[in-house]
Amino acid sequence: MYQFKHRAALQEAIAQEKKAGKRIGFVPTMGALHEGHISLIRTAREYSDIVVCSIFVNPTQFNDPKDFEKYPITIQEDILQLTAAGTDILFLPAVAEMYPEGVNGRHPHYDFGYLETVLEGAYRPNHFQGVGIIVHKLLDFVQPDDLFMGQKDFQQCMIIKKLLEITQIPAKLHIIPTLREKNGLAMSSRNMRLSAEERQTAAVISQTLRHIKAGVGDTPFPELLQNARKHLQDAGFQVDYVAIAAADDLEILQQPAIGRPMVALVAAKLGEVRLIDNMLL
Ligand code: PAF
Repeated sequence: MYQFKHRAALQEAIAQEKKAGKRIGFVPTMGALHEGHISLIRTAREYSDIVVCSIFVNPTQFNDPKDFEKYPITIQEDILQLTAAGTDILFLPAVAEMYPEGVNGRHPHYDFGYLETVLEGAYRPNHFQGVGIIVHKLLDFVQPDDLFMGQKDFQQCMIIKKLLEITQIPAKLHIIPTLREKNGLAMSSRNMRLSAEERQTAAVISQTLRHIKAGVGDTPFPELLQNARKHLQDAGFQVDYVAIAAADDLEILQQPAIGRPMVALVAAKLGEVRLIDNMLL
């Protein structure tokens, strides 16, 4: 696996591959890799001649500075996992490489519309602008044919779809199903910050989503959501939201939307760690 810290060297290597007609697949990450990321790499491996992964903990997408400071960093283990999974190129830039204009410099503003006003958008002001800024830069550098992202960040996937429309970047977005621990907990880098006991408790989120899925046909949504919230609170979570939304545009639903795909989404804090998860209904 080739490793690059600088944009120029990365772009030169990719340009050579593209000249040789190679198909480029890209998996952007913030490191602290787990099996969920590796499943993105494996899928990218199936579609692409050259698999590029980036590891960059992006300061502009953290609305909570404490969350940024505590974001797990496990570069050496990440490199081993990426090599074993068949990654061809790792891009590992420093903050100054990604933000020569400065983290607080002038950045583009993306009109993500309604998508940025609900759920994660409402609870994490400017988070999606930060995601847009960095993913736009990374896509400019890598110019992939295919982009691979995890369904666990359901709303982020919708934002990236919109970013691709806004910027007219011709990459195809592939959304890869969430990988779960045996107890149902969605794999996430943030799980590293949970104690063994908290990891057991955290499984209540996926149990709650399964209850919602089971009840969606015959229980009114407000009752279903109230029970779900209570279930989470009783387990010790501080709940930001439990919602059912249309899976195509995230319209928040109070009753079934006939003929439209639906998704249940949760964000809740266990101690200091904020977890999100979702399930298609
Ligand atoms: O999902 C993530 O890990 C990040 O939000 C991403 C897409 C790599 C942008 O920093």
